[in-house]
Amino acid sequence: MPRIAYVNGRYRPLRDQAVPVEDRGYQFADGVYEVVKVLNGAPRDLGRHLARLDRSLAALQIRPPMARGALVQVLKETLRQNGLPTALLYIQVSRGTAPRNHVFPRRSRPSLVVTVRRPSFPSVREREQGVKVITLPDLRWGRCDIKSISLLANVLARQEAAAAGCREAWLCERDGTVAEGSASNAYIFDRAGRLVTHPLGERILGGVTRSVILELARADGMQVDERPFSLEEARAAPEAALSSTSSLLLPVVAIDGHPVGAGRPGPGVRRLMGLYDAWLAGPEDSGKGRPEHGRDEVSVELAS
Ligand code: PDD
Repeated sequence: MPRIAYVNGRYRPLRDQAVPVEDRGYQFADGVYEVVKVLNGAPRDLGRHLARLDRSLAALQIRPPMARGALVQVLKETLRQNGLPTALLYIQVSRGTAPRNHVFPRRSRPSLVVTVRRPSFPSVREREQGVKVITLPDLRWGRCDIKSISLLANVLARQEAAAAGCREAWLCERDGTVAEGSASNAYIFDRAGRLVTHPLGERILGGVTRSVILELARADGMQVDERPFSLEEARAAPEAALSSTSSLLLPVVAIDGHPVGAGRPGPGVRRLMGLYDAWLAGPEDSGKGRPEHGRDEVSVELAS
């Protein structure tokens, strides 16, 4: 079955060259995106993802390409046409197409592209043995809370991690704080057994997975500390982890070649992984609280 993309009103083969050269996403990376996990044919946490999409669009003064209900219908139809029950759904919105000029065009219609891809969820080995990260200086811009398609610094960091045989690069501020990964959020367990992760704000993307994990941890009675932690603290921590829509939750067992704790997944991360797996296996929006982003969003039912 060929992959089908939704591109500005039409469903067409993914391999078609469908986006104009003057699209501002292509010219300036002037756009935003979301990546949504699809399990058993149904997107998970769509309400949280669409709330974050709205937030990213508003921050860049890009109009939503269509009303929420219409967008949900497009997502549903794109999923249907691709026939993949387990997938990653990509939603990308740019400011639209206009003659190249840094200044916003007076009139441009936002451009919407939706694609569906086969996911590459972590292997059993990665889940059981954990993954390695390197650390690099955070070279990104000042608004990492916006899920912008301008990902050059992330791409370069991730490439360096891959070249070093690591799953992820943790990005560090000048003061030694670990902000997050190139495409994931970062956690440690501190010596007192508290789960620590960088607070929301402009230095990190407020991950949808992060919000679920923090809710699950709190509901389980774990102590959660949303505070900056340093690379030094991470290296000395008994346990570490990363999370994202496509990586789920993974134990981090080495940082820059130094083992974290005993160099294998510890009890805190293993417990959290169990909680997250159970949550994924459960029904959508099972009422386990609401996230930081999208707290007031109505849940979006997409499974048909
Ligand atoms: N990446 N931080 C960054 C910089 C990210 O790019 C991502 C997601 C996350 C985790 O967010 P979430 O839990 O909502 O996926 C944190 C996506 C998956 C990507 O770019 O493919």
